[in-house]
Order: sequence, then C-alpha cells, then structure tokens
Amino acid sequence: MNKWFGKVALVTGASSGIGKNISIQLAEHGLKVIGCGRNLDNLSSVKNEIPKSTKGEFIPFKCDISNEEDVVHLFSFVKTKFKELSILINNAGLALEVRNTYF
Ligand SMILES: NC(=O)c1ccc[n+]([C@@H]2O[C@H](COP(=O)([O-])OP(=O)(O)OC[C@H]3O[C@@H](n4cnc5c(N)ncnc54)[C@H](OP(=O)(O)O)[C@@H]3O)[C@@H](O)[C@H]2O)c1
Repeated sequence: MNKWFGKVALVTGASSGIGKNISIQLAEHGLKVIGCGRNLDNLSSVKNEIPKSTKGEFIPFKCDISNEEDVVHLFSFVKTKFKELSILINNAGLALEVRNTYF
C-alpha cells in the first residue's frame, strides 16, 4: 500500500458497512479519504473514530449520489481542493431483498 500514501481516494457510502471500513483502512494507510453519504452526522462519527495518530485523513462530504447536482458539486470540490483523484470506491447503494419472486 505504500505507493498510495498521500494519494486521494473518494468513497461513496462511507458512513457505514463496507464503505466505512474501506475508508478507515485507506486512512490508516495514509490516504486522504473523501467519504460521502447523505447524512453528515454519520460521516462525522466515522471521522471521530479514526485515531488522531493516523497518517491519512477522512474528509466527510454530504452528497446524495442519486442527485446529479450533488454529484457535480462533489467532483467540483475534489478538483478544487485536491486537483486529482487516485481511487474511486463507488460503493453507495442499497441491497434489495427479493422474496417469493418467480422468474
Ligand atoms: N453487505 C452485503 O452483504 C452486500 C452484498 C452485496 C452487495 N452489497 C453492496 O455493497 C454496498 C455497501 O453495502 P453495505 O452493506 O455496506 O451498506 P450499508 O451499510 O447500508 O451502507 C450504505 C452506505 O451508502 C450510503 N448511501 C446510500 N444511499 C446513498 C445515496 N443515494 N447517496 C449517497 N450515499 C448513499 C449510506 O449512507 P446514507 O444513508 O447516510 O446516505 C451508507 O453509508 C451497497 O451498494 C450494497 O448494495 C452489499
């Protein structure tokens, strides 16, 4: 993971589950992680969970990926603040439970 140290990653759905865990791992490996989700409080909790000694950082960003305006705003933020993005973990989503469905 050394080659990713200091690089920028964007993780969608970073406030819980898989996205949260990937975000924390990437920050622990020294990446600057922009974590997005619809609830900023939940993203801030993730930031608070990351030890201060961690070399990377977690930047919470409120964004609903089903809203085009939000997505444009997100990438505009990334471009302005970080210039480039090395990793995109496009994780946000819902798992639909399908029962009693006959094909
Ligand atoms: N867990 C599994 O067994 C499993 C299996 C197959 C596939 N997957 C897929 O893996 C991904 C993560 O699963 P998970 O279990 O970790 O889910 P999860 O714990 O429910 O987390 C979903 C994350 O996505 C965010 N999110 C949902 N809708 C969003 C939207 N419109 N815009 C921005 N963020 C949004 C949620 O935050 P907010 O609600 O605050 O926006 C949350 O951070 C999903 O795409 C899921 O379909 C999971």
